[in-house]
Amino acid sequence: MIDTLEVSYDTRIPNNVGLSEDRRVLKALEQWHPGYIDWWMDMGPEGFQASEVYLRTAVSVEKEGWAKFGFVRMPEYRWGILLAPQVEGRTIGFGEHKGAPAWQEVPGEYRAMLRRLVVIQGDTEPASVEQQRWLGRTAPSLYDLRNLFQVNVEEGRHLWAMVYLLQKYFGRDGREEAEALLQRRSGDLDRPRMLGAFNEETPDWLSFFMFTFFTDRDGKMQLESLAQSGFDPLSRTCRFMLTEEAHHMFVGETGIRRTIQRTCESMKEAGIEDPYDVERIRALGVIDLPTVQKKANLHFALSLDLFGSEISTNAANAYNAGLKGRYREDRIEDDHRLVEATYPVLKLVEGAFRLVEAPALTALNMRLRDDYVRDCEGGITRWNTIIAKAGVDFRMALPHVAFNRQIGEFKDIEASPEGALLSAEAWAARRDDWLPSNDDGAFLRSLMMAERQPGAYAGWIAAPKRGIDNRPGDFEYVKVVA
Ligand SMILES: [Fe+2]
Ligand SMILES: [Fe+2]
Repeated sequence: MIDTLEVSYDTRIPNNVGLSEDRRVLKALEQWHPGYIDWWMDMGPEGFQASEVYLRTAVSVEKEGWAKFGFVRMPEYRWGILLAPQVEGRTIGFGEHKGAPAWQEVPGEYRAMLRRLVVIQGDTEPASVEQQRWLGRTAPSLYDLRNLFQVNVEEGRHLWAMVYLLQKYFGRDGREEAEALLQRRSGDLDRPRMLGAFNEETPDWLSFFMFTFFTDRDGKMQLESLAQSGFDPLSRTCRFMLTEEAHHMFVGETGIRRTIQRTCESMKEAGIEDPYDVERIRALGVIDLPTVQKKANLHFALSLDLFGSEISTNAANAYNAGLKGRYREDRIEDDHRLVEATYPVLKLVEGAFRLVEAPALTALNMRLRDDYVRDCEGGITRWNTIIAKAGVDFRMALPHVAFNRQIGEFKDIEASPEGALLSAEAWAARRDDWLPSNDDGAFLRSLMMAERQPGAYAGWIAAPKRGIDNRPGDFEYVKVVA
């Protein structure tokens, strides 16, 4: 197999993994392709398959100039297989095999574990496309519409990335898993997607921005730890996926920033000082900040559940095996084996939250979640800067990690966003103060009206500072075919 920086276009599938010389895998992928297109037509962006969209396509894996922009109809997007360049002499960075050469083939003893990691990652990619498929109809601008579709086609490419690993390295059961990835459906009662947050609805654009901020960021953390993998093809695939993932979080973070900015500006113009004067603020056609906070509470809690139980032998096994590392493992200074090490885990002890030292190996999910929370905080600070600059007396905050959890240490208790323990009744009585209510949902839906004029934005969201690929403000990012 020849790996190059150059992406070859001599098969239907752009790639830098020498597919044209790898007949078996090429054939398997070509057989999978029609089913993928069927899935995309059924479950991809509803109503826009014939429209031309200004999209970036990955054309190289070099740091500079890896993508090229141009108009393309989404079903004709060139979904390719791109791996970050192979690092000469790379070794396994952690676990039992630390220091041994990185694996270029699947280590037999870890085959099932590795396949499971690839399948779980792979399952999230089409799930998010399914969750977002109706949003195009209510996009607040052509700019936002284009960003939605960029995220969608790249999640499609991430599915390809995982399917390539399954087809190339796992033979027949890999093929079956690749097929099953096209069969499951987000929110389906009989064949749901594998993880909870990926079966939730994304009913409005604020949800979409929250999803890309919080849930795509979970994706980033997972990809970062898989990028450390001793199984080199997985590591290289994830490293390249992270290049694309950055834009998804940009869409989320700036989408929320622009929403907040518009709200604050409108409040000031109308002379409204109290951010809790919800009725008057909503009458201006913007989203009151308490509702933005409730959405953040919901999506943060759902995303925390994706990290699994704080204490996990699966996580320990994957680490020991050298398959899944810690966030930025290669920048941590310790023995990278963690046999003797401990890590503080937040638990409920005699009615109070306490940090309890646990074996670091079994506490890896907790550690990754802590890294994630820190990463989220940066975004919250930037939102608060906008609110403070506008002179509005309100602060956004992440809720306590025990708030509204379904998985892990806190799944059987109720806590407020501030971290006060409550009875189930007391919690239920306050629920609508902390999470989006039906009324909030109805209000948000009432704002969701498509704006299709180039350069125009729906009233609830500010224009972005800059265009995509430095395009001018009135650029027609999507040529909508009705
Ligand atoms: Fe992805
Ligand atoms: Fe993503």
